Amino acid sequence: MDLYKNLAESVEITYRNKKPVVIGHSNSLLLVGMGRSAFVFKIKDTNKVIKVFFPELSHIAREEACVYKVVQHIDSYPSLYECGQNYIVIDYVKGYTFFDCLTHGIPISEKEIRAVDFALSSARKNGLNPSDIHLRNIFKTQDGEIKIIDVARFRQKKKCDQWDDLKNAFYHFYIKPFFPKKLPPFLLNGIAFLYKNVLRKQAVTE
Ligand SMILES: Nc1ncnc2c1ncn2[C@@H]1O[C@H](COP(=O)(O)OP(=O)(O)O)[C@@H](O)[C@H]1O
Ligand SMILES: [Mg+2]
Repeated sequence: MDLYKNLAESVEITYRNKKPVVIGHSNSLLLVGMGRSAFVFKIKDTNKVIKVFFPELSHIAREEACVYKVVQHIDSYPSLYECGQNYIVIDYVKGYTFFDCLTHGIPISEKEIRAVDFALSSARKNGLNPSDIHLRNIFKTQDGEIKIIDVARFRQKKKCDQWDDLKNAFYHFYIKPFFPKKLPPFLLNGIAFLYKNVLRKQAVTE
């Protein structure tokens, strides 16, 4: 059955001002997210999503599928159902990313931070090197569980401090009673921009 392959093929992506945009897709798909490498669609009437990679990044599909295969036995990662040339099919995660939690004022608890730690250390025990762990790649589900997505960079060799930095920010700022639990998206995006382009670059050159 070529169900998922046909769905992936229905997604038409073009570039406007060098940015990828979706110009068409099957009626069975609902766009639920976009990242730096792909568009993510919920497959209607199922609990699955199909992540369709931008044309020049289609090779990441196989890499991400390889990593998901390694972490399938760990609860905090979605199940993988299929991998094609430019797409993967995984569980739809119902809930809020940590980014959404912060912008909507949904509390993040220490228990959830520890659950992320556990998920990442379990991946390490399986020979992976969790990388690219940022607020939009961690979900708090409606049942209060943690799910980590976007695992394509888990096999890279380079050390990634992003999660340690986020955890430090949680304990030094967020958890303090005076710290606001709801932040405007522009502020979070601004902090992320400074972190990526200033702080981490300094850390590399120092
Ligand atoms: N399994 C999923 N369930 C629900 N939403 C998802 C799922 N996977 C991705 N998304 C949404 O799509 C966005 C982009 O997905 P992601 O896998 O991070 O793509 P990229 O590799 O391009 O960063 C996520 O931040 C999230 O909002
Ligand atoms: Mg992402």
